[in-house]
Parts: sequence; C-alpha cells; structure tokens
Amino acid sequence: MTSKSESECFVYITLPGNVASVTAGRFELGSNRAGDPIGRFVYGRSYLENPRAVPIDPVELKLSGDTYETVQRKGVFGALRDAGPDFWGRRVIEKHAGKPMLSEMDYLLQSPDDRAGALGFGLSQEPPSPRRVFNNTLDLEKLQTLADALVRDEIPNDPAAPQVQDLLLLGTSMGGARPKAIVSDDDGLWIAKFNRHDDRWDNTRVEHAMLRLARQCGISTAESRIETVGGKDVLLIKRFDREKTNGGYTRARMISGLTVLRADEGVQTRPRWSYMLLVEELRRISAEPRKDARELFRRICFNALISNIDDHPRNHALIAKEDDWRLSPAYDLTPAPVVSQDHRDLAMDCGDLGRFANASNILSQHARFLLNKDEADGIVKEMRAGVSKWYDTVRACGVSQTDAETIRGAFVYPGFDL
Ligand SMILES: Nc1ncnc2c1ncn2[C@@H]1O[C@H](COP(=O)(O)OP(=O)(O)O)[C@@H](O)[C@H]1O
Ligand SMILES: [Mg+2]
Repeated sequence: MTSKSESECFVYITLPGNVASVTAGRFELGSNRAGDPIGRFVYGRSYLENPRAVPIDPVELKLSGDTYETVQRKGVFGALRDAGPDFWGRRVIEKHAGKPMLSEMDYLLQSPDDRAGALGFGLSQEPPSPRRVFNNTLDLEKLQTLADALVRDEIPNDPAAPQVQDLLLLGTSMGGARPKAIVSDDDGLWIAKFNRHDDRWDNTRVEHAMLRLARQCGISTAESRIETVGGKDVLLIKRFDREKTNGGYTRARMISGLTVLRADEGVQTRPRWSYMLLVEELRRISAEPRKDARELFRRICFNALISNIDDHPRNHALIAKEDDWRLSPAYDLTPAPVVSQDHRDLAMDCGDLGRFANASNILSQHARFLLNKDEADGIVKEMRAGVSKWYDTVRACGVSQTDAETIRGAFVYPGFDL
C-alpha cells in the first residue's frame, strides 16, 4: 500500500482492547467521468490477514479484498465522515488554517485523534503513536474563554496569532455544532460542552438535567456532571467510546444513525430519516436486536415528550466496544419550547403520520420495534409519567426557576395525546 497525494490517506483503527492503532486500509478521493467526487476504500492485505481485524462499517465496508466505492456524501464513506469534524470542528480547523473552505480530505487529516470512534487518518503507512496528552479539566476556564471568543467571532484571521494556535486545544474532531472541547481527568475522557452568550437558557444545566431525566425514565445515557468555572457552567459528558486503562485509552468503533441509514444532511436522502428504517437496520446489526429496538422506542417517546426536535440521525449512534454492535447510550437531548400546542414534528419519521410527535403516531409502528400493542402502550404510559416529573429533575440539577419556566412548554405538550 502506498499513499501518493493528499487526495489519498491511510485509515488507522484501534482494535478492540488495544490502545495503539494499526493501519486498516487506504482511502482515496477522486472524481468520476461526470466530475463528481467519488471515494474509494480498500482494506490493506496485512489488515485482512490479521485474525483480530474488525470491519470499519458492519454493512458498507465489510472485511474483504474488494475496492469499495461511493459517490454519496462527496465521496466520503459514512463511517469515515463520522470520524471527521462537523460544523464546530470545521470552524476551528478553518480558523487555524486561515482559509474558509478546505477539502473533505483536509478536514479528515487536520483533526486530532480525539475523534469519535476508533479511526484515525494520516499520510504515513504506519500510524503515529497515540497522543497521550489531553487537556485537563483544570484547563476548562481557558477552553471556555477560547470557545466563547470563537463563537463571538473575536479570533483574528491570522494563523500565527496565539489565540488561533490555542484553538486546537479545543479538539476539533467531535461532531455537532455547539461549542465544545475534550478534557480528561482521573476517570477518563469527557466532552465539555459550553454555553453560548446568545443561548436563551443555561443549555448546559438543562442538557445535564435531560440526561438525568432520561435515565430516570429507564433510558441508557452517557454519564454527565456540571463544573462551574469563572462563574460559567460547563457540561461534562463522559465519553462512552473511550475507556481509560493503565496503558492509555481503548476505543470503541462508532457509526452514526446517518451512516446506518445511508443518508446525509441533504434533502435528497431526507425520506430515509426515519425511526422505522433505523430500527430495521438496528435489528440487522445489533447483537441484542430486541433490547435495542425497545430502547429506541423509549427514546422516540422521550424525544416527543420533551419536544427534542433536534433528534436527527447524527444524534443517534451504534457502538462496538468489542466485536458486537449495540445502540450507543443516548446523548444530545435538548427540549424545545415550540409555540404550537397541537402539532410538533420530530426530525425523523416516527409513524404512519410521518414525523408527528404524537402517541398514536408513534404507536402505529410498534411491531417494527418488536413490541406488541400492549407492551408499546405500556412504554408510552411509563415515559409519559416519567417525563411529567421534569420540573423536579431540572430544579434538582440546579436549573433556575426562570429557565425552568422558559422551557416549560417543551414538556408533555397537548398534541402528544391528541
Ligand atoms: N458521551 C459521548 N461519547 C462519545 N461520543 C459522543 C458522546 N456524546 C456525543 N458524542 C459524539 O459527539 C458528537 C457531538 O456531540 P453532541 O452532544 O451531539 O453535540 P452538539 O450539541 O454540538 O450536536 C455526537 O454527534 C456524537 O458523535
Ligand atoms: Mg448533536
């Protein structure tokens, strides 16, 4: 295997239980006859000969000697795109590079190894040694100040400026649009999510409370806590794709719901943004299809009941700590106090009536979730009762009375029961 230009790179993977990566294959971005981007991926021979090798994507990139091709997502395979930066990370990289738009390959290559999942990218055939140094939770105040300056567009357009150099401390490879950084402490690795000056309420505390409320409703979620630095709240969410060991961090593979659905953010694949399609794929891929399908059903009810209309496919993921894939813990749960009292839409289809966040609609497709009508009814009732306790939970998490009133309209809105 060789890599000639920056339109090609090597893809590294940290195998289950390991802390260092090996080279899995080679990814090349070119164009087809029509001039559209086309991506090619091929596993390396030595990787295929490795008895411990695991596929990067259990459906699209199965272990084989084939050359895989895709024209979707500007030629970037979903599993690779999931390991690359999103809106927030791209912004950091662009600032650092001093240019507004980089190539898809640049975004992959320029992001550090704190990315979600077990993959890495580079131009050398041998993977670099894992970077052991992460920001410490003690650095949070500095990171918060940097993130704030970037959100306020106060960072100079000069790659040599010290603030621009510091930006990379934020870490750039985790997805999502909200300001964030990666930090470590004795327990492991955390995503730090910051408030924005233009937020209408303390998002960090509210998100922390939603994770707790979801747990109280029997949903599996990432662990979280709030740290207050310089008078500002920061949400720390424990990374479920990393485990701290004496020798370093083990890494789990991760693919987003978007990848599982073979979809992207564009309008063309929007018809595939569907919980019914997601559960069908989940049932094929998961080692515990029945449990995971039921869990996904609980999450749909929860999202509808807290008006989490930002439940798009990148806010769902599958994860493989060892060989087996499972639905990942829930994350990015945000209530939206939408004005309409009788009709709200989730981001994905959830029943016969499309995206309507409504109990009868969600129940209409219960069988796809391997639930009989009574079981599905029972879950809806249980989730409704659980979410009804939202006020006590948000207050117990330190959300102010004013903020609690601002978000009140998000919970158990009348249209859910219409
Ligand atoms: N606890 C976690 N462990 C590992 N990866 C996570 C965790 N939470 C989120 N992620 C990944 O990080 C991305 C960004 O996190 P998210 O909370 O969705 O941020 P945003 O609010 O900016 O969308 C997610 O799309 C997911 O890939
Ligand atoms: Mg998100």
